[in-house]
Amino acid sequence: MRTPIIAGNWKMHKTAAEAIQLAHAVCEAVVDINGVDVVLCPPFTALGAVKTIVENTKVGLGAQNMYWEEQGAFTGEVSPLMLAELCGYVILGHSERRQFFGETDEGVNKKIKVALAHNLTPIVCVGENLAQNEAGETAAFVGGQVKAAFAGLSAEDAVKVIVAYEPIWAIGTGKTADPATANSIIGLSIRGAIAEMYSESVAQQIRVQYGGSVKPDNVDSFMAQPDIDGALVGGASLKPDSFLALVKGTL
Ligand code: 13P
Repeated sequence: MRTPIIAGNWKMHKTAAEAIQLAHAVCEAVVDINGVDVVLCPPFTALGAVKTIVENTKVGLGAQNMYWEEQGAFTGEVSPLMLAELCGYVILGHSERRQFFGETDEGVNKKIKVALAHNLTPIVCVGENLAQNEAGETAAFVGGQVKAAFAGLSAEDAVKVIVAYEPIWAIGTGKTADPATANSIIGLSIRGAIAEMYSESVAQQIRVQYGGSVKPDNVDSFMAQPDIDGALVGGASLKPDSFLALVKGTL
């Protein structure tokens, strides 16, 4: 059985002081909740502060990006060595990184390998834009992103990766994918690509989240889908009450 996982991607929100408050509230709220993994992904500048709050709780901590080199003359980048002493997860290939900061499939693939080598669990984002969706290209495009992301990974490493299917047109727009359609993209294009690369067993072990305007009032409809194992949440993860409602909605 795959344990559901709900991750809050705080994006470029929350100072360290604000992040401490939110993390405190989340940790207190989820203390009696079992059966779902909860992960907070604050900005880099708040990782150290939030670490002190989530330590010794069951709440996990993740970064929102990472460079693939361990150290060197890469001004402004953050390395896997630096993250490994702070957190256990890292979001890689988020569509905002691909769209605004030139992230490529090749770069995402390198980052996944390096993250795994440093015992960081990658949350790898894939998803089509509106034009691709309307042109009926979603299945082929998402399948291609998955194959590029997993290229060269052993089966042993592949099962550790979490994939987030985030249709770009659903992010921050209030529009969600139809849950049954998202389920079939995840089943056919994401697990299907992984089954082709490895085996049906590997495809069934990997956890796949849905992301894009997930809210307390729609999370159940996604969690009811057999191939959806949780959610990667932006806006609704920024308030303790709505995030708690999402966590409860995954059970
Ligand atoms: P929203 O939940 O704000 O649509 O953001 C989704 C997302 O991009 C999470 O990574």
